[in-house]
Amino acid sequence: MLLHHPVELLGVLLAGLLVPLKQAAEVESALQRRVAMVGSSVLLAGPHNITLIHSVQWEHLNGTASHTILQYERHNLTIHMPYIARAHLHASNGSLLLEDLQESDSGIYRVTVNRAERESLTILLDVLKPVSHPQLWSRGLVAKASGEVLCEVAEGRADTFTWKKDGQMLPPDRSYHLSGSLSVLHLRVAKKSDCGSYSCNASNGISWQETSLNVTVAGLSPPLQDVLRISVVAVVFAAVSGWGIIFPVCQSEKLRIRGELWRWLSAYTCGLVCISSILAGTAGILWMREEGPSIAVIVPEIFLLYVIVITFLVAFTVTFQPTKLIQLKSTAAQRTMGYAAPGGVLLVVVTSSFHMKNIHQRHEEGCTAFMDVTTLVVSTAAVLALPILAIFLCYHTTQGWLQEHDSSCADKERSFEMSLPISMDPDLTS
Ligand SMILES: *[C@@H]1O[C@H](CO)[C@@H](O)[C@H](O)[C@H]1NC(C)=O
Ligand SMILES: *[C@@H]1O[C@H](CO)[C@@H](O)[C@H](O)[C@H]1NC(C)=O
Ligand SMILES: *[C@@H]1O[C@H](CO)[C@@H](O)[C@H](O)[C@H]1NC(C)=O
Ligand SMILES: *[C@@H]1O[C@H](CO)[C@@H](O)[C@H](O)[C@H]1NC(C)=O
Ligand SMILES: *[C@@H]1O[C@H](CO)[C@@H](O)[C@H](O)[C@H]1NC(C)=O
Ligand SMILES: *[C@@H]1O[C@H](CO)[C@@H](O)[C@H](O)[C@H]1NC(C)=O
Repeated sequence: MLLHHPVELLGVLLAGLLVPLKQAAEVESALQRRVAMVGSSVLLAGPHNITLIHSVQWEHLNGTASHTILQYERHNLTIHMPYIARAHLHASNGSLLLEDLQESDSGIYRVTVNRAERESLTILLDVLKPVSHPQLWSRGLVAKASGEVLCEVAEGRADTFTWKKDGQMLPPDRSYHLSGSLSVLHLRVAKKSDCGSYSCNASNGISWQETSLNVTVAGLSPPLQDVLRISVVAVVFAAVSGWGIIFPVCQSEKLRIRGELWRWLSAYTCGLVCISSILAGTAGILWMREEGPSIAVIVPEIFLLYVIVITFLVAFTVTFQPTKLIQLKSTAAQRTMGYAAPGGVLLVVVTSSFHMKNIHQRHEEGCTAFMDVTTLVVSTAAVLALPILAIFLCYHTTQGWLQEHDSSCADKERSFEMSLPISMDPDLTS
């Protein structure tokens, strides 16, 4: 064909474009969609306005391949191999009954009646398994962090997932479909208002299932829970050592605990202050690792380090080289040691209270129950108080015993009669 004019060329081009479009539209309108469950039967109807049927051919098109299911020609019916037992033709109207459906039966079915292309019909069949009950679970639901709620069906392919929170439909853009079996609901910055009952409805053409989950947002991440535990233990250490410091002060001058027991009490108390300062310092470092450095944490950290060094030296000296302490004459050194333990106790209580207050505030941003630390407090206090109780018990029995018989044990105790310049001896530190 010779083209003499550009307009003609355009016309030919347009016709070439329009013909496939028209065909596509025809296929589209003729395509019926059917869904059926695995194991069930489906009746695929032939073209409905044909009065006289001489021949019928049914084909299954999956992908690009085409398989003939059956052919009917002048009362001669041939059913092809994989369909022999489960395909039945109603010759009067050209309908095909397909039994015992499998997922591989999904695809396009085409029926051609009387060998005429325009009397053909295409049907899209989806063979689906019913969806199983969805599993719902959540991931990383900590206040201020991003978290997600996941919904997964183990069996069957879901076309649609819908989410509800406390019975209210959530907008579809809150969640996304990862596959036919998984939907993820995003909580960008998890907060208290995200707590509640979530339900996920997974459905396909033949079935739906819904599951609910009570979702809680934790206020504290695991590291912050550790900070809380460490701070609580630090306060218990400080409280027990505070008791060890105050108790002898409250005793009358004459009955005041002295000697070897006094030495052990001092060493133990200083050791406790040292450990509680280490714990409070650790809590501060962990807090900063989670929340970033802040001057309100760094300054107490420096003082805590100072307390750790002093109390460690005192505890070590009192335990292993008690004679060194007697030689220590400098009042400045004595004062430093005298104030280190009570000062340390105070510092630990203040810094730990600060951490606990911050942690409590953070906890309020979630909706879980506050961490129960009662067992931790009681067990730590019981273990730490035991040596002090033992020292006091020993002191009181030796006191009572002393009053009755002035024995060698008393001499032995008196031989160590020296008031160590530790915190709780106001006579020497003044
Ligand atoms: C075709 O005929 C069969 C039996 O004669 C009937 O059960 C079926 O409903 C018919 N199909 C349609 C589409 O009319
Ligand atoms: C059947 O109906 C369609 C439209 O619904 C028409 O195009 C077709 O010609 C009809 N066939 C016969 C045999 O009447
Ligand atoms: C097409 O269907 C046949 C059975 O009719 C099956 O064996 C084959 O795997 C299917 N192919 C595709 C691409 O689905
Ligand atoms: C009917 O099918 C048989 C074989 O199954 C064949 O021999 C015969 O020619 C067919 N008849 C017609 C009219 O096609
Ligand atoms: C779940 O979804 C299906 C399909 O969208 C719907 O028919 C059904 O009512 C829904 N179930 C509930 C409990 O909302
Ligand atoms: C969610 O919590 C409510 C009470 O707050 C309770 O009645 C309901 O059974 C819980 N649902 C699930 C799935 O645990």
